[in-house]
Amino acid sequence: MRAVQSVTARAPGRVNLIGDHTDYNGGFVLPCAIAYETAVRARPEESRSIRAESPFGSASFELAAMPSTRKGDWSDYLRGVIVELQRAGVALRGCALEVTSNLPAGAGLSSSASFEIAAALALLGVGGASLPPLELALLAQRAEELHAGTRCGIMDQFTVLHARPGHAILLDARSLSFSYVAVPNAIRIVVCNTMVKHELSAGSYNQRRSECEAAAAILRERYPGAAQLRDVSMEELEQARTTLPPLLYRRARHVVSENNRVPAAAQSLKNADVRQFGELMNASHESLRDDFEVSCPELDLMVELARDLGALGARMTGGGFGGCTVNAVPIEEAMAFCERIARAYRSETGIAPDIYDGTPAGAARVARDG
Ligand code: GLA
Repeated sequence: MRAVQSVTARAPGRVNLIGDHTDYNGGFVLPCAIAYETAVRARPEESRSIRAESPFGSASFELAAMPSTRKGDWSDYLRGVIVELQRAGVALRGCALEVTSNLPAGAGLSSSASFEIAAALALLGVGGASLPPLELALLAQRAEELHAGTRCGIMDQFTVLHARPGHAILLDARSLSFSYVAVPNAIRIVVCNTMVKHELSAGSYNQRRSECEAAAAILRERYPGAAQLRDVSMEELEQARTTLPPLLYRRARHVVSENNRVPAAAQSLKNADVRQFGELMNASHESLRDDFEVSCPELDLMVELARDLGALGARMTGGGFGGCTVNAVPIEEAMAFCERIARAYRSETGIAPDIYDGTPAGAARVARDG
């Protein structure tokens, strides 16, 4: 009999070019994967437990007695993935997982979705099972929502599983229909890490989502067809402005305007109109900063520096409250830009930022070892 081999699954992080806080409102996003990833190696064991060693610590779960309570750390994602795989009817086998990563955690580059997907692919692979990518993306999203407590949208898990090198994904987060958009050779995507993490971010993220739902509920009284903010046009929002408390109006204005910017940005990439693309990125940042209030001084500073240093467009990316900016930089200036922005941010804040190449990378994959 052939011995069961160990497998290694690799899942990238992602950077969202434009379209933040739109996915859970049923809207559009334009993310791509990056060449930084989480790797999970699964070695089969003659046991009914899953043991994991990671840079964040170790964890162990008995498959027959999965705990249902949150620990409030990285192991919640693994527990969530195991429980959701079991609920999906996947027969898991005992194994030892070894987690490694060169993707910064908590930096808005989707380290959680990357880990969820890498862990799920490794657990499936070592048991000789597989799931279709869309099913797996939805499963990982449930793991995060139900077991780690973030009511996230589908963007991150979807991107990790559907990414294509050199391309961004224009995703309709409601219908889940998508198309690939090539990133023009004239620009380099550069990601700048402010190195700031705001601990409150999961609570604030869920709060934003609730505010969006509250705004949609009020707007629905006037526009019964508006299931989500995605269904409201800017004109309709303006007409209903006085029915909304000012804060909810601003939250909705971000979502509605951002939702308009995403297809326009995809079109400008297709037209290789990188200037227009950059302008849309800039407008997105302003909206996230002023209307949605998910930026922070360090992100605003990084964006300002980028624009001064020649970026065509610069914006915070992902959930916000710290983390990274994404920048569209003319290709011939990219090297100098990276050096200059690192120096400038450090001299303003005393913090040395990490700068990453955001060139769009490929999707998650799993391979037998050896
Ligand atoms: C996080 C969530 C995503 C999305 C972004 C903001 O990354 O996981 O679903 O909502 O924030 O765009």
